[in-house]
Amino acid sequence: MINRLVQFLLFYFKKFPRAYYTYRAAKKMLFFDEGVYPRMLNSEEIAVKEVLYSKGWNMCYGSNLKHEELEEKFAEYIGSKYAIAVNTGGMAIQMSLRALGLKPGDEVIHQVDTCVANAFSILNAQVTPIFADISLDTFLLSEESIESLITDRTKAIMPIHMWGNAENMDMIGALAKKHKLFILEDACLSLGSVWNGKKVGSFGDVGFFSFGCLKPLQTGEGGMIVTNNEAVARELRTIRNYGDRYKEYGTRDQNVLSWNGRISEILAAIALEQLRGYDQFLKKIEKNIFTFTAYLDSVKGFSVIGAKNNNAYSQLVLKIDECGLGMKKIKLFELFQKNNIAVWHANFEPINRLSFFKDNTWKDWVHKGDLDKVCKNYSGSFVNSEHVYGHIGIGLGRRHFLSEHNVLNLIKTIDEILKKRV
Ligand SMILES: Cc1ncc(COP(=O)(O)O)c(C=O)c1O
Repeated sequence: MINRLVQFLLFYFKKFPRAYYTYRAAKKMLFFDEGVYPRMLNSEEIAVKEVLYSKGWNMCYGSNLKHEELEEKFAEYIGSKYAIAVNTGGMAIQMSLRALGLKPGDEVIHQVDTCVANAFSILNAQVTPIFADISLDTFLLSEESIESLITDRTKAIMPIHMWGNAENMDMIGALAKKHKLFILEDACLSLGSVWNGKKVGSFGDVGFFSFGCLKPLQTGEGGMIVTNNEAVARELRTIRNYGDRYKEYGTRDQNVLSWNGRISEILAAIALEQLRGYDQFLKKIEKNIFTFTAYLDSVKGFSVIGAKNNNAYSQLVLKIDECGLGMKKIKLFELFQKNNIAVWHANFEPINRLSFFKDNTWKDWVHKGDLDKVCKNYSGSFVNSEHVYGHIGIGLGRRHFLSEHNVLNLIKTIDEILKKRV
C-alpha cells in the first residue's frame, strides 16, 4: 500500500515539480522521519547505566556479563555455534589467523580494493596478504584471479562481503576444498546478509564482524568472531586475553603470542540492544531500496550490483555505464556531492596504490616467504578493480534509504541532475 503511494507520489512529483516542494514543506511541519544512523533506540541508555552501576565494566571480572549474553545472542542470530566478542574488526582478523595457526611466510588471498584494515591486520598477525582482482559482475573476488595466485604458501582465502553484497560462497567453498585452504569470512560490512538462505559469516572456518564506524551495527567500536569449531573458539578466547589460559586450565601460563582483543562491557551492552529488532530495521531499508531500484529501472546507465534483498545495505552498489549515462563517473560524482548525495566509489581504491605497498615499505615487515611473488603481486595491475574505481562503480550511502522521505528526496535530486546533463 505504502509502496503504491510512493510510486504514485513519484509519478506525481515528476509531472508537477512544484507539488514536491509543497510536500517537503508539509513534511517539515509534520516532522517526517528522516531516519537516524547509527540508529538510536533509547534502550541503550538504560543498558549502559546498568553496566555503569555494576562492578563489571570489564569482561574479565564479575558474573552475568553483558559480553557473554551478546555472544550467545549473536551466535544464534548468525546460526553459528560459537561467538567471541572482540574490540575491533581488525583485531578479529589478527586473532583468527593466529587461532588457525598461520605463521610468518603463510599467505592469505583477498580482493585488492578493500579497506586497508584487511591487509594491515593480516600483516600485523605476521602473515602476508596477497591481492586478487575482482569480477566486473559482482565487484567481489574473481575466481580466475584467485586460482592464478594459489601456491604452496597460500593457507587461506578471505572473501569480503562488501557493503552487504554476499560473496559467492559456493565458488569460495569449492576453491578452498580443492586447495585445502581455510576460509576467513569478512562480514564486517554485512551483518544480516544472506547467501543461499544462510547468514554470511557462518560459512567459513571463522567469520568476523565490526561494530565500528559506518558498519551495519554500531557501538562506537567493537567486533565479533563466529565459528562452529569448538577448539578454535577456545583458542580465540585465550588469544583475546593475551594468551591467558587460566580460565580454561586453572594455570597461569602463556604459550601463544597474542593481544588484548577484549570488548568493554559498556559496548557489549550497546551491541545487545542494537541487535534487538535489527532484522526489522533491515526490512525497512529494503523497502526503500525497492522503491529506489524501481525508479532506477527507468533510468538509462545505472544497474544494481548484488542482491536487492537479504542484504545489509552498508551501501547500495551501482554499476554505471558512462556512455548510456552521457556523463563520466567523475562528473556524476561531482554533481552528486554538490547536491548533498552521499556517494562513494563502490569499492575502495586498489590498495596496492597506497604508499605503504607502492614504495616498498611493506618490505620492512615481511621477511619470510616467497618475496618475489609478493613483490610482483603488490606492483601488479588489477584491471577490473581499477575500472570499477575509475569508471563504473558507485555506492550510495545507507542514509538515503533510512526513510521514505530520504529515498524520495534522492530520486528527486538524481532526476534534477540528469535533466540538466545536456
Ligand atoms: C571490510 C572491512 N574489514 C575489516 C574492517 C576493520 O574493522 P575495524 O575498523 O572495526 O577494525 C573494516 C573497517 O573499517 C572493513 O571495512
